[in-house]
Amino acid sequence: MEDAKKQITEKTAIVSIAHVSNVLGVINPIAELTKLAHQHQAVMVVDGAQAVPHMTVDVQALDCDFYAFSGHKMCGPTGIGVLYGKRQWLDQMEPVEFGGEMIDFVHLQESTWKELPWKFEAGTPNIAGAIGLGAAVDYLTEIGLENIHAHEADLAAYVLPKLQAIEGLTIYGPQEAAKRTGVIAFNLAGIHPHDVATALDMEGIAVRAGHHCAQPLLTYLQVPATARASFYLYNTREDADRLVDAIKLTKEFFQHGTNEIR
Ligand SMILES: Cc1ncc(COP(=O)(O)O)c(C=O)c1O
Repeated sequence: MEDAKKQITEKTAIVSIAHVSNVLGVINPIAELTKLAHQHQAVMVVDGAQAVPHMTVDVQALDCDFYAFSGHKMCGPTGIGVLYGKRQWLDQMEPVEFGGEMIDFVHLQESTWKELPWKFEAGTPNIAGAIGLGAAVDYLTEIGLENIHAHEADLAAYVLPKLQAIEGLTIYGPQEAAKRTGVIAFNLAGIHPHDVATALDMEGIAVRAGHHCAQPLLTYLQVPATARASFYLYNTREDADRLVDAIKLTKEFFQHGTNEIR
């Protein structure tokens, strides 16, 4: 927030930020940042791809101008997502995609657009995707997003101290579970994260390794890549224990060599 107060000025047109970082798992203070953006007449655009699947989100309480999220990160299909926008902006905006269903009237030299939301939904819609996303929303709502958040918070609080106790393991982002979701990026000293990921895979644990499409953040962290574990509603404390054990085994394997790795 201290940095944001310096960066957001009268010259700022748009403030764009992830609600939850896909690398650090940190939950950003969107309501506070929106207030700051609006004090400077800037438009607030939030990427909620890593937040909506994991917690209750109230766009009116956040007061952001735009909020986007993806279906495939919330047990839904690929190729579909949601863009929420305040009517005052959507009414002013011109479409950038053109096709069927969006047309009000076609003239030889120009066309007029239907009202919202059709003007932004050019072409025959992804009907199957929308039905699939609706089923995913029903599924998550039935479980309760507050329950999913509590479950992930419990797993993060359970696993973080165990990971922090591994010598040579660096966890990026806040060290307190309360400030995060279940996304945990880490590195083992002297071992490339792609090697870590391969070794964990051999133990039946899928993590992602790489720059996570967030090179500026990795430059800031001064690392070329990280490994990243992501907990979701289907993970258990036993899974967390297996991750910790497999990381210890990986460390042993690369540092001293062992036959234990399967
Ligand atoms: C925070 C965040 N935003 C956006 C994306 C991209 O979403 P999509 O694949 O739906 O474009 C991802 C992951 O791929 C993400 O983690």
